[in-house]
Amino acid sequence: MKHIRVGDFIIGNEERKAINEVLDNGKISEGKKVKEFEKIFSNFVGTKYSIVLNSGTSALIAGITALIYNNNIDIKKRPYVITTPLTYIATSNAIVLTGLKPIYIDVDINTFLITPENIKKHLDEISNPNEYSFILPVHLMGYPCDMDEINKIAKYYNLLVLEDSSQAHGTFYKERKTGSMSNLSTFSFYIAHNIQAGEMGAITTDEYEIVRLIRKLKANGRMCDCPICKRAEGKCPRLAAYKGEDDFDPRFTHEFIGYNFKTMEFQAALGITQVKKVDWIINKRYENVKVLNERLNKYKNVLQLPKLDETVSYMAYPIVINDPVKISRKKLRKELEKHGIETRPLFGCIPTQQPAYNYLKEEYQGKLPNAEYLGMNAFYIGCHQYLENEDLGYIEDVFDNLLGHLI
Ligand SMILES: Cc1ncc(COP(=O)(O)O)c(C=O)c1O
Repeated sequence: MKHIRVGDFIIGNEERKAINEVLDNGKISEGKKVKEFEKIFSNFVGTKYSIVLNSGTSALIAGITALIYNNNIDIKKRPYVITTPLTYIATSNAIVLTGLKPIYIDVDINTFLITPENIKKHLDEISNPNEYSFILPVHLMGYPCDMDEINKIAKYYNLLVLEDSSQAHGTFYKERKTGSMSNLSTFSFYIAHNIQAGEMGAITTDEYEIVRLIRKLKANGRMCDCPICKRAEGKCPRLAAYKGEDDFDPRFTHEFIGYNFKTMEFQAALGITQVKKVDWIINKRYENVKVLNERLNKYKNVLQLPKLDETVSYMAYPIVINDPVKISRKKLRKELEKHGIETRPLFGCIPTQQPAYNYLKEEYQGKLPNAEYLGMNAFYIGCHQYLENEDLGYIEDVFDNLLGHLI
């Protein structure tokens, strides 16, 4: 029996070499490799800056906080954030943990994404749009949200936009890459993602002030001594204070209350090896989705297969069951797992299906039909770069074995 994982990470010569370099350097906390990753990742996304943090969740928390500080948002007066109910839970958690309130808008059943139409409808209908501060769309499974329209709505209603691009490394939306079309974007390099580092996150932005804030926030609010700040003559309190006082140590002087979201050199070193082969990773995943779609096309009446698009950087291979009476997701997943094919649910509709958000269940019951349907009837399997043709053939065989009687 084969083992088809949702994601895989093969430690080859390049990865070993990168780790050994860190060991040989003798410094394992944030240093050269983190800086190098930041440089090549911002080049890859097409933003001026990127800042590394220890996870995608940290990136969301620090990113939201930085936007609040930088724009002087009074979160008591403007607590609401429009976001998607269908995502990995970290997106919602970060909103709540930064003192804001998520407002969930339903997704499109085919793309799994929140739509500008639904966002606009919501904002047009409510009486208090001035109590909203952000739109936080998530490019789920690699599919890009309609950012031009979302940005237009945000502009009209005076809202900030933060893209969660954790699952979309290298996806194109028109001419630009996901992660470069809003005030700030967050990424996760968790193990199954296209660029992976085990655990690591990043923020991309074009705004210099955001960079300064994030660098402080990720280091317990300490005064920043990064080279970028040094260029900001007069603006950096560290430089100003240094001039006046001999006994002043910026590393232990804290401008505000922050977090420890710093990472280690090892993760950045691994991440660099992946960015260097990202074109191969993205192409291989696209080809795998294409072949799987061809092989499983015979099930198109009972399963919704992923939309094929050359501009998408696929994180996985999502499947939606068209008729839950004919096919039970629970049974199908169990059988696939029994045959060595790993599966994951498509996250669940956060306010109605995630126990942590039970306090919102009544308010949202029945209001997010697409997210609820997908939360119950969608799942994904792997399409990662290490799957070969015979693995894809094996997946087809298992599906034939389980669902052949339905066609
Ligand atoms: C959409 C989304 N947001 C945020 C995160 C959180 O990232 P991390 O697991 O690196 O904290 C993930 C992780 O998979 C994600 O998929």
